[in-house]
Amino acid sequence: MGRFNIAVIGCGAISKNHGKAILESPDAQILYCVDADMEKAVGFSEKFGGIPKTDYNEVISDPRVDIVHICTPHNTHAQLSIKAMERGKHVFCEKPMAILPEEAEKMIAAAKKNQRYLGVCFQNRMNQTTIMAKKAIDSGKYGQILSVMARVAWDRHGKYYSESPWRGRYATEGGGVIINQAIHTIDLLDYLCGGVRKVTAIAAKLRDTEDYEVDDSCMANFELSNGSTAVAHFTNCYTTGKLCQLEINCEKARIIVEQQRIQIIENEKINDVQCDVIEGEKSEWGVSHGRLIQHFYDCIRDQKPFFIDGQSAINAILIVDAIKRSNGKPIEIKK
Ligand SMILES: NC(=O)c1ccc[n+]([C@@H]2O[C@H](COP(=O)([O-])OP(=O)(O)OC[C@H]3O[C@@H](n4cnc5c(N)ncnc54)[C@H](O)[C@@H]3O)[C@@H](O)[C@H]2O)c1
Repeated sequence: MGRFNIAVIGCGAISKNHGKAILESPDAQILYCVDADMEKAVGFSEKFGGIPKTDYNEVISDPRVDIVHICTPHNTHAQLSIKAMERGKHVFCEKPMAILPEEAEKMIAAAKKNQRYLGVCFQNRMNQTTIMAKKAIDSGKYGQILSVMARVAWDRHGKYYSESPWRGRYATEGGGVIINQAIHTIDLLDYLCGGVRKVTAIAAKLRDTEDYEVDDSCMANFELSNGSTAVAHFTNCYTTGKLCQLEINCEKARIIVEQQRIQIIENEKINDVQCDVIEGEKSEWGVSHGRLIQHFYDCIRDQKPFFIDGQSAINAILIVDAIKRSNGKPIEIKK
């Protein structure tokens, strides 16, 4: 089997992580790069290759294209993914897979009907720290989960919104800190801690700014599937740091998972491991795009299930949607 022919749709900020991953993969080559703005498509092409185009319809109609990477604004994910799968393409879609659960369900149905792979980019599931935490929790070595605290503290304002006008608007981003930034931590909470079955939350725009209309802060109280409680604080208003952390209190140990560090504290003994350490402007995106994309290609090539398929990724959408609807009232998550 030759290399997969890839079309990348959306050549903005995150497309670089996809371009680099595809270039580094022995299994893929970029056939097209598409952006509504031709300059962006050309810029991507000069760096990573591919024929620059502005019309994704033309590209997904080309029978040579095997896999489409979707790196466009949130409100386009469902429609683009479904169209691509209906034309026989496998889809690797950036998070969130959709804004609404109904859209995500249609994507899952399209993947099933057309027998295509639908992968969603929750790359943090491939962080070494996440893999270590998953193994530790699933082994049962530390006992049941008793409680969890989730924290996301980032800074998003000014240029972040002005350079991409779809951001910061309910119609195009679908929300703010919850659906865009905290969704990674919400996904990890669900994935590592056995699932979320209820949430009560309050979200609001707390920063005094005209930069955006969406929520930038949220407090949430989750009921996990085993009956224990998780509490969360998510904010885009923290100007001096980048923190995504899950503190998972088990019967026999406290496990603190961050993107680049995991601590397992057992009987006052601290096992502290740092991995994947990176710094810089977008360090919060981590190093795992390449790992996840290669794993997606491996699964397609070997015809094995991909673990972040639509059915797995929709959980985060259901939780985000429940948080948005909660306004202080408990909302059940119906999976
Ligand atoms: N996994 C991560 O850690 C991570 C990090 C950043 C962004 N993202 C996600 O990636 C997606 C894109 O975010 P971004 O920051 O790169 O945005 P961006 O604004 O920088 O880029 C989006 C690009 O899509 C293009 N576009 C819009 N509609 C199009 C269409 N119909 N056809 C072709 N091109 C179109 C725009 O012109 C723009 O260049 C979002 O879903 C975002 O949440 C994920």
